[in-house]
Amino acid sequence: MRRLLFAAAVALTALGLGQSARAETRTPQSFRFQSLFGTYNKASLQVGFAVYQADCASCHGLSLVHYRDLAHLGLSPQDIAAIVSHIKVQKGVDPAGKPVLAPAMARDAFKSPFPDEAAAEKKFHGAIPPDLSLIERGHRDGADFVFSLLMGYRAAPPNVTMPPHHFYNIAYPGGLIAMAPPLKPGSVTLADGKKPDVQAMAHDVAEFLAWTADPTLDQRKAVGLRIIIFLLILGALGGFAIRAGRRT
Ligand code: HEC
Repeated sequence: MRRLLFAAAVALTALGLGQSARAETRTPQSFRFQSLFGTYNKASLQVGFAVYQADCASCHGLSLVHYRDLAHLGLSPQDIAAIVSHIKVQKGVDPAGKPVLAPAMARDAFKSPFPDEAAAEKKFHGAIPPDLSLIERGHRDGADFVFSLLMGYRAAPPNVTMPPHHFYNIAYPGGLIAMAPPLKPGSVTLADGKKPDVQAMAHDVAEFLAWTADPTLDQRKAVGLRIIIFLLILGALGGFAIRAGRRT
């Protein structure tokens, strides 16, 4: 018994230490898609994509997403054609070995901002902006993490010495991140001409990155709902059949 108590005490201490070692603080957010039957909000996804293009795409790729996938956000083939017509991607090399650039096609994957990791690492003094396609799968409650990170920049407390090229962020494990606050107020304009504030931009880009990490969530939930309705009807019919059987 004593040994058991000792083991429990060790486990509790370890848990406690784990808790205090984690410097991150999250700002809770509610996303409709996190509820049982909630789906993505297409308007949010579209704004989130615009925020990604304006404020993230210069450093982070989305290599698992293709331009044609934007149709799931409610963009028309014409909208997608207009977007890709402005994006130049490398299509092979010319006889002299120089890269040939041409407008992207809808079937192309999103363009990566750096030719390779070494180029990115050089620009960011050793840090690498990771590909964001699956970033929200890599963190517990990924959308909350990305939202909290974007809203988590603060002035460093006096007892923290800041290494060069780093910023203080209460949502990042360890508190120091090599990414400057990326959201620029006013970088995105909505269809009605208004500009979303930074908090709304953080929310929508976090939802957009939830979609890139889990694009089939809506379909799965729709199927789940249909199965539940089917089972309810089946159950009701079964009940009627049993009652009818008893009466005869
Ligand atoms: C100027 C370049 C730059 C821009 C623009 C930028 N980032 Fe970053 N980002 C970085 C770098 C560099 C890191 C790596 C930080 C580190 O290792 O300390 C990073 C890290 C991150 C991480 C943490 C990844 C992890 O799991 O540790 C997330 C999430 C992220 N960025 C999201 C975004 C989003 C969303 C945007 C747009 C709103 C954005 N970034 C814009 C450079 C950038």
